[in-house]
Amino acid sequence: MTDGGYFISFEGIDRSGKSTQAIVLAEELGERALFVREPGGTIFSERVRGILKDPEVPLSPRAEALLFAAARADLVASVIRPALDEGRIVIADRFIDSSLAYQGVARGLGVDAIKTLNHWAADTLMPNMTLLIEIDPAVAISRGAEEHDRFEDEGESFQRKVAEAYDQLAIDNPDRIIRVDGDRGPDDVALDVREIVFDRLGLTLA
Ligand code: TYD
Repeated sequence: MTDGGYFISFEGIDRSGKSTQAIVLAEELGERALFVREPGGTIFSERVRGILKDPEVPLSPRAEALLFAAARADLVASVIRPALDEGRIVIADRFIDSSLAYQGVARGLGVDAIKTLNHWAADTLMPNMTLLIEIDPAVAISRGAEEHDRFEDEGESFQRKVAEAYDQLAIDNPDRIIRVDGDRGPDDVALDVREIVFDRLGLTLA
C-alpha cells in the first residue's frame, strides 16, 4: 500500500450481492477504510441518485450517462480524493466500470465515449483494484428485491448485457479486475474477498 491511499471498487450486476461485500470489507478494515456508494455520497450526488433511481422520471440515455458522471465528479472531488490523500483505503460500491457496462454497453452509448466522459469527470482517478462479483443474471433476478429501480425493471436481457460487458472489462483489465464467484452464500464470498484484498494490501489475516 502506498502513502497515497488505496482505492478499491466493487462491481457486479443488480442483486449480485456486491453491496453487502463492500460493506463487510469496510467493516473488517476498520477506521482506515472509508465506504462510499455510487451514485451518492455527497449532498448533490444523493439528490442525483434520487432522480436516477426513480422509474417515474423518464430519462434519455445521454442524460442518464451525464447524471452518473456528475454524481461521480462530485464524489471524487469532495470525498474520495481527499480520503486517498490522507492515506485511507476507499471502498466504493460501484465506480467507472458501472458506467462502462450499463451506459456504454447495455444502453448502447459506446464504451469509448463513456470512458472519455468519466475520465474527465473523475479527474482520471481509477481504482487500484476492482472486485467483480459474478453471478448468473437469472439467479440474481430470482433473489428478488422489495424496491424496483429503472435498471431492475429492464429485465433479464438488460442484466445479461451488463454481465457480458463486465466479462469483457475483466478480460481487458486483468491486473485491476479480479473475478469473485458470487453464486454462494455471503460468508463464503466474504472470505474470498478478504483473502484477495488482504493479500494485495500486505495485511495479515486475523
Ligand atoms: P443501487 O440501488 O445502488 O443498485 P446496486 O445495489 O445494484 O448497486 O442502484 C444503482 C443503479 O444504477 C444500479 O442499477 C446500477 C446503475 N448504475 C449505472 O447504470 N451506472 C453507473 O455509473 C452507476 C454507478 C450505477
